[in-house]
Amino acid sequence: MAQLWGGRFTKETDQLVYNFNASIRFDKRLYAEDIRGSIAHVMMLARQGILTDLEKEKIIEGLERILDDVEKGKLEISEQYEDIHSFVEATLIDRIGEPGKKLHTGRSRNDQVALDMKLYTRDEVNLLDNLIEELLHAILSIMEENVDTYMPGFTHLQKAQPITLAHHMGAYFEMFKRDHERLRDIYKRMNTCPLGSGALAGTTYPLDRAYTARLLGFSGPTLNSMDGVSDRDYLLELLAALSIIMMHLSRFSEEVIIWNSNEYRFVEIDDAYSTGSSIMPQKKNPDIAELVRGKTGRVYGALQALLVSMKGIPLAYNKDMQEDKEWAFDAIDTAKNCLTLFTGMMRTMQFNVERMKDSARHGFTNATDAADYLVNHGVAFRDAHGIVGQLVLLCIEKGIALDELPIEEYQKISPVFEEDIYLAISMETCVNKRMTTGAPGKTAMKETLEIYRKYMEEY
Ligand code: ARG
Repeated sequence: MAQLWGGRFTKETDQLVYNFNASIRFDKRLYAEDIRGSIAHVMMLARQGILTDLEKEKIIEGLERILDDVEKGKLEISEQYEDIHSFVEATLIDRIGEPGKKLHTGRSRNDQVALDMKLYTRDEVNLLDNLIEELLHAILSIMEENVDTYMPGFTHLQKAQPITLAHHMGAYFEMFKRDHERLRDIYKRMNTCPLGSGALAGTTYPLDRAYTARLLGFSGPTLNSMDGVSDRDYLLELLAALSIIMMHLSRFSEEVIIWNSNEYRFVEIDDAYSTGSSIMPQKKNPDIAELVRGKTGRVYGALQALLVSMKGIPLAYNKDMQEDKEWAFDAIDTAKNCLTLFTGMMRTMQFNVERMKDSARHGFTNATDAADYLVNHGVAFRDAHGIVGQLVLLCIEKGIALDELPIEEYQKISPVFEEDIYLAISMETCVNKRMTTGAPGKTAMKETLEIYRKYMEEY
């Protein structure tokens, strides 16, 4: 047991209590942020005349050495300390003596941990955003190559109308684009510095909070010290954003799993991203997509857990808040892993273009267009709907596609049909006539792609 307090205690902490209370097992990953925050704090203390320049230099040198030694594996973060803050401060005092004891002047572990966690999260938001960027690039390049790849669009998992692979991928581009914007938004809102909030009521030392905030790259200090130490909104916002990212990845995974199934065969997942079965030699399973789908639950769980942990906490800091870390770390790690693997899987996946087109042709996805043909020749839409319904029934009986039905059969049901019906219901026509903004038609898709390319350039 190694702790920073104990003066007012007459007994040792019970070992079980100590273990239950300690957080070093998981907060040790904050060592770099803790040291970075301490260096900024000490620079400010010296600038305000609270520490001498010599003390400042000794402390900063000591902290930098601790950082270096931890990074080089020369110094182990021993779990005998209560938390990472205690480890850094105790090691510093061990190494440099008296000046080290002044590090914690005008500071509490409450504002210290709030700062560490924000510094950590802020960097992770950027890393996550870079991974979203990679995924958007991967999606965009699939789109560019597949403007003419026809496939069925589905509603209720039933073939509905023909679209293109570019269009289907574009829906995911939109989703991850919003995720990028959500992350930027969270970054902006969380970028205020809690250091100097003290335990809860600020401090009597003449701290320059704006200066430490500036040193640490924040837009400014937090403006209420009680909120400063007890705000975990930024973590909740991040967990919510991660939950939405995972929901998008999970839907995408589900589609990849369906497309990769023996029945669909729209895609083939690369060998490097598939796994085999220990008993069935023929198997090549989409485990990565399934795991991404599965791990989504874990990230939702983190959001739920932190929301519940926070809901009954009176102001200001309470130890419940220590529970934020394991959830946040796990959700961030999970989302980063899933994004990385999913992007790799997308980049290496083969699209079975002929099979997709064939599937679109044989699912009556052009039935709406056959009805539109009649409407364009003066038939009322409701009547046209009925006529095409009869044609579909006939085709189902014969086991053929609409464009395989001879013209005589068309004309038996409605004399309005002429030879040009085949052109009107070809996949090319069905898709490319859909030219409204956001539709799959080539002209509309080209405009969208132009916007997406620019979006990525300005990312
Ligand atoms: N380990 C604590 C946490 O993660 C650090 C803050 C402790 N402050 C306190 N007054 N006990 O929240």
